[in-house]
Amino acid sequence: MEHLFYSGDNLDGLRLLAEMNIPVDLVYIDPPFATNNEFLIDDDRANTISASGRPAYSDRLRGSEYLDALAARLTAIRQVISPTGSIYVHIDVKMEHHVRFLMDDVFGPENFRNSITRIKCNPKNFERYGYGNFKDTILFYSKTPGPITWHPQREPLTDDEVARLYPFTDDNGRRYTTNPLHAPGVTENGPTGQPWRGMPPPAGRHWRYPPRKLDELDAAGLVAWSKTGNPRKIRYASEASGKLPQDVWLYKDPQRPRYPTQKNARMLERIIRTSSNSGDTVLDCYAGSGTTLLQAARFNRRFIGMDNSPAAQRIFCARANGLDVHPLDQVFQFDTPHTG
Ligand SMILES: C[S@@+](CC[C@H](N)C(=O)[O-])C[C@H]1O[C@@H](n2cnc3c(N)ncnc32)[C@H](O)[C@@H]1O
Repeated sequence: MEHLFYSGDNLDGLRLLAEMNIPVDLVYIDPPFATNNEFLIDDDRANTISASGRPAYSDRLRGSEYLDALAARLTAIRQVISPTGSIYVHIDVKMEHHVRFLMDDVFGPENFRNSITRIKCNPKNFERYGYGNFKDTILFYSKTPGPITWHPQREPLTDDEVARLYPFTDDNGRRYTTNPLHAPGVTENGPTGQPWRGMPPPAGRHWRYPPRKLDELDAAGLVAWSKTGNPRKIRYASEASGKLPQDVWLYKDPQRPRYPTQKNARMLERIIRTSSNSGDTVLDCYAGSGTTLLQAARFNRRFIGMDNSPAAQRIFCARANGLDVHPLDQVFQFDTPHTG
């Protein structure tokens, strides 16, 4: 699969994308956060604390200069997103409210989907006049209010959750719970209103299944009978489909990043698998070390990356070894028609 990379200012790269009618299905960006810092790197090891090291990238824009620059890029990004596409913007707690206003302005409040809290590190145990900060925010918007590409990645239950939600254990050691075999509402004419094994459904209720299906469930050992003869359906923990993801995520930053502020690859895996299809195009125009791009390629998506830092480009190239990556400004044909 052919991927694209633009080495330069992403505003120019985004204009090129629009001119070339290259549509994008999913965007993740992790721009500078207006920290007034220089981010440094030593021997391809991120080094944000010591004064030594070569520049990785500069985060000196502040206030309205920062917001104007970001607004111009968000506007250009919106232009290239397809109608079922979406965008995730990673931002810290100091800037999130400013950037949310910008996102409402550019994408429209009707396209706001989530403000995701990301736990980024372990709790901080140094004294200060305030609570420890171990989270940042990912703003999730779509291009349109309509249906979007969406494949939520269910999570397995924890051992504690299994113990709480499936309190019984069968003879084979399998954990299970039970649910009523009847539901509210009376069936006037139909098998689910009829007695099963001489038992009518309780007053005001109907059987969840016709008697023949109830017999099959019982024969398969999937009905638990109470001492008073009340039947309930057995549900095994091993057959649970897992939990739908919520808007608090635990994806700590890597312990030994190769690039300053490098993000957790598993977090990008979740975003890409949830909000794009195989074969789709994923854009990260603040690519840094290429975490988004590599995960996109790993899950069979085409990526478009952009970054203006030579250090980022060098580290991305090393990590992308073996992938088919072309410079965006030397590509004149792209085989996907523009849709949005
Ligand atoms: C926070 S880092 C991204 C880190 C990335 N998420 C990762 O996992 O490695 C932000 C990146 O945006 C790049 N950047 C900032 N302003 C840019 C611009 N105007 N055009 C292109 N890249 C830019 C910086 O060089 C830096 O590499």
